[in-house]
Formats: sequence, structure tokens, C-alpha cells
Amino acid sequence: MDPRINPFSPGAGSPPPKLAGRSALLQEAGLALDRMRRGLHTRSMVLVGLRGTGKTVMLNRIEALARQDGALTVVLEAGEERSLAELLAPALRQILYRLGLEAPSGNQTRRALRVLRSFAGSFKLQPGLGGFDQELAVDPEAGAADSGDLAADLFSLLDAVAAAAVERQSAIVFCLDEMQLLREKEASALLAAFHRIHERRQPLILIGASLPQALGWAGRSGAGAERLVDFPELDALSSADAAEALQIPARGLGATFSPEALTRAVELSSGYPYFLQQWGYEAWNQAAGPVIEFGDIESAAPRVVERLDHSFFRLRFDRLRPREKDYLRAMASLGQPPLRSGEVAERLGVKIQSIAPVRDSLIRKGLIYSPAYGETAFTAPFYGEFLLHVYSDEPASAPDQP
Ligand SMILES: Nc1ncnc2c1ncn2[C@@H]1O[C@H](COP(=O)(O)OP(=O)(O)O)[C@@H](O)[C@H]1O
Ligand SMILES: [Mg+2]
Repeated sequence: MDPRINPFSPGAGSPPPKLAGRSALLQEAGLALDRMRRGLHTRSMVLVGLRGTGKTVMLNRIEALARQDGALTVVLEAGEERSLAELLAPALRQILYRLGLEAPSGNQTRRALRVLRSFAGSFKLQPGLGGFDQELAVDPEAGAADSGDLAADLFSLLDAVAAAAVERQSAIVFCLDEMQLLREKEASALLAAFHRIHERRQPLILIGASLPQALGWAGRSGAGAERLVDFPELDALSSADAAEALQIPARGLGATFSPEALTRAVELSSGYPYFLQQWGYEAWNQAAGPVIEFGDIESAAPRVVERLDHSFFRLRFDRLRPREKDYLRAMASLGQPPLRSGEVAERLGVKIQSIAPVRDSLIRKGLIYSPAYGETAFTAPFYGEFLLHVYSDEPASAPDQP
């Protein structure tokens, strides 16, 4: 059928033609936002799920919801090269200017800007270096957000920003994607700071998204981060929801999946949103239409595999060091994760301690995570299958290769 009007949208963060199976979560987020605005007790939330389950899409939906409701929103993405302070400070500066623009500059907005200046000084954020494009044209607020302790200073800073929002009868929603790239200390400081903000019923909330690494730090943090914020989990869609994700967009354009084609596409994608979009996209292009038949799904397969390899699985893989790739390959050869870390080391023929830095680095880069102590699993569905496919033509490297 005509590729120009193909409704499916495989791609990181691409809004799907039908957001299937997430209405309960949207409602939950809507409720948290609503209670925050009313000054009632609420909790921040971090959406957790494997790659391609639709976290970024949900985050953007929630952000749009908050904006429509009149809140000020900030959309941020954590990265390997930037600290949390570097990420937050410029965003807060911008928020304060937006608050200030709505009315003649009031006390609390100006005070918050001074606290931000202290915070920036304390964490040595320079204009240009720390992500500020302009100087903060105020004096620092002595004694606020300048202890050098991230958790305490972050709270003072957010508290000052919240007071400015209260003064302007506004509310602020922080959307933070890729939270697994934060350092563990930063993540706990952030969650603890927002928890204190909620205890004070202030109009500020964090909506985050993270690979399952987040569950690890939640469990380990002494503060019991799992009680400080909600961690709703995004999983594959149920068969019924997955079928809707394909059928509704097709029907909207006068086409339809035959029952057998629909069942097959849902089965092949295992209900994972990214895979569903890719199967839908290729099947649409393959089909003569207006009915997408079982045979169209089968003939779309090589193209689906090629596209997923190229745009979904390859992401970050090619930049890994050889030892990291070897670790992943050993995991893949051992069968279905989660795997014991000891097994992987044994397969590589090395001591578990000597390989621990490689495992840590893969966790930090978001390729694997630890579902339970001493266990390791991939952060993308079917990643093991992808690796076996990549390596199927190559002989295994020697186990003790550096
Ligand atoms: N609820 C959903 N129903 C159908 N497709 C979805 C849904 N959520 C996400 N998608 C699709 O899945 C793909 C991945 O979404 P994304 O938000 O980037 O995932 P993540 O951030 O978890 O890696 C996108 O192509 C998007 O259109
Ligand atoms: Mg994402």
C-alpha cells in the first residue's frame, strides 16, 4: 500500500498512531499532576521499562497533559557527559525567567535566582561550561544551596524555585528521560529532594523515565527510594492491546489486518511497542491491500529484521569496547537471561572480580542491568537473539583475549 500514508511510526520517541494499553498509567499520572496543582500530597514518578516499551512517548504525553493544564514544563534528558547539576541549572534558570516574565519580578523569583547562583557556585558551573549561555545577573544567596552536599543543596534550590512558583500561582513539571545515565548518587539525591518537596505540598513534580537500572538504585538506597517515588513499570502490551495498536491505525485509513495476519504480527513482536510499529510499517508497505494478509507479514520479515538490527539493536552497540562486546556475546551464548554473573565470567574463562568493571560499564551505558543481586539481563527485548545473529558468521574469540 502507499508508503506515503503509512501510519506506523517505528523510532525512538516517535508518537504512535494509536497509544495502546497505557490509559491506566496516563490516568495515574494525570491524578498525580492534579493533586500537585491542588496542593495535596502526591508523589513523583519514574517510568521504568526495557528499551522500546514506550517510555519516552509516555513522558511526552504526560508533559503535553501538564502543559495543557497550564503548568510550566521542563523536558530534560540525562547524558553520560553531563552531571545532574549541569543539566538542571540552566533549565531552572529558564524556568525562573518564564515565571518572572508573567508579572513584575517578585521577591521569590529573584531569591530563587540568587539561590541558583549559589548552587552554581557551589558546583562550579561556569557560564559556557556548565551549560549556562548567560551570566546570572544576581548575587548569590549566602547560606542557601552552597553546602556542597548535592542532596541538601538540590532540595534548597528546588524549594526556592517552588516558592517562586507558589508566588506566581504556577506549577512546574520536570520531565527527565534516560535517568539510568545519572550517577547513582545523583539519582538518589534527586528522588530524595522531590520527596521532601512533596512532603511540603509544593507545586513541583518529577516525571522521569529510566531503563530498569532505576529499580536497582531504588532498592539499594538507604532512604528506600522505592517508597519516595512511584516506579510504574511499562511492559510489553497484552495481545488485545497490541492488536489495537496495529488494527486501529490501519482501519483509520480504510485498510485492515486479516485475523491471521494480526495474530501473527502480535506474536512476532511479542507485544513490544517498538517491534509492533516496525512490523506494522513493513507489512503496510508490503501489502497490496486493502486487506493485509498473513503472507504479507511473512514477506515483511527480512525487512523488519534488517531495520530493527540497524536502528534499534545497533544503537550504542558499535561504540562498545571489544571486552564489552565479548561480555555481551558470552551472555547471549548462555541462553535466556537473567544469568548469574559467575556463569558469564566462567564462560569468558576469567575471574568474576576481574570482569566486574566491564559489567559495571555495560550497566552504566544502559546495555544490561541487574534484576536481582548477582544477576544480569539485557535492557532490550530479544537482545540475545540479535547478538547471536550478529555473531553467527564469526568464530568465537579466544576466552582470555583482553
Ligand atoms: N502504547 C503504545 N502503543 C503503540 N506503540 C507505541 C506505544 N508506546 C510506544 N510506541 C512505539 O514504540 C516505539 C518506541 O517508543 P519509545 O517511547 O521511544 O520507547 P522507549 O523510550 O521505552 O525506548 C515508538 O516507535 C513508538 O511509536
Ligand atoms: Mg526512550
